[in-house]
Amino acid sequence: MLVVAQTNQLREQIKAWQRAGETIAFVPTMGNLHTGHLTLVEEAKQRATKVVVSIFVNPMQFDNKNDLTNYPRTLEQDSGQLIAHGVDMLFTPTPDIMYPKGLDAQTFVEVPNISNIFCGESRPGHFRGVATIVAKLFNLVTPDVACFGVKDYQQLRVIKLMVEDLSMDIDIVGVDTVREESGLAKSSRNGYLNQQQLTVAPLLYQVMQQLAAEVSNGQRIDIAIAKATETLNQSDFTTDYIRVQRADNLGDVTDNDRELVILAAANLGPARLIDNLVFKR
Ligand code: PAF
Repeated sequence: MLVVAQTNQLREQIKAWQRAGETIAFVPTMGNLHTGHLTLVEEAKQRATKVVVSIFVNPMQFDNKNDLTNYPRTLEQDSGQLIAHGVDMLFTPTPDIMYPKGLDAQTFVEVPNISNIFCGESRPGHFRGVATIVAKLFNLVTPDVACFGVKDYQQLRVIKLMVEDLSMDIDIVGVDTVREESGLAKSSRNGYLNQQQLTVAPLLYQVMQQLAAEVSNGQRIDIAIAKATETLNQSDFTTDYIRVQRADNLGDVTDNDRELVILAAANLGPARLIDNLVFKR
């Protein structure tokens, strides 16, 4: 596996591959890799002849300095896993390489409306940071296809909209969430939980499954959400939001809408857990 930190090295290698007729699948990450990321890599391998992964803890998408400082950085372990999974190139830039003029002087990409609701409302500027870094990485890697976890459902919608709005010729593939046996979605943030919190954490997905069943059975959405919120808050969770929205564009649900998504974010001890569940009614 080639490991490069400089953008010119990355570009040269990508161009050489493209001249040789190779196709490129890209998996952007912030590292601290778990099975969920490795599933993205496996999907990427099916989609192109070369797989490029980036590891960059992107300061522009953190609204909280402590969160950025404490974000787990496990590069050595991550590269070992990527080698074992047959990745062709790992791109590991530093903030100076990605934002040489500093964050305040950086041109940004903002996908309107969807960036300011739900996680975007709780974490102002977060999706601007995500869209900006993903656009920059896309311009550097010039992939044919890029893989993202469906676990970050709102992020996936933001990226799909960005690609559509900016006419980027990249196929965006959403890869299903990988879960623990308990139902807890795999996430780097699960590493912040202690043993006791890890036994409580699966409740988030259980509550979402119950909510989906109730809405499918015709229960009023606001009443079902109030019940789900109460169940979570009566345990150790502090719910940020639970919403039932249209699955395609996260718009508000009307009587005719059948394809829905539950979006949830809740704090458990030091971790902000997010999850989603797509269902039909
Ligand atoms: O999902 C993530 O890990 C990040 O938001 C991403 C897409 C790599 C951008 O920094």
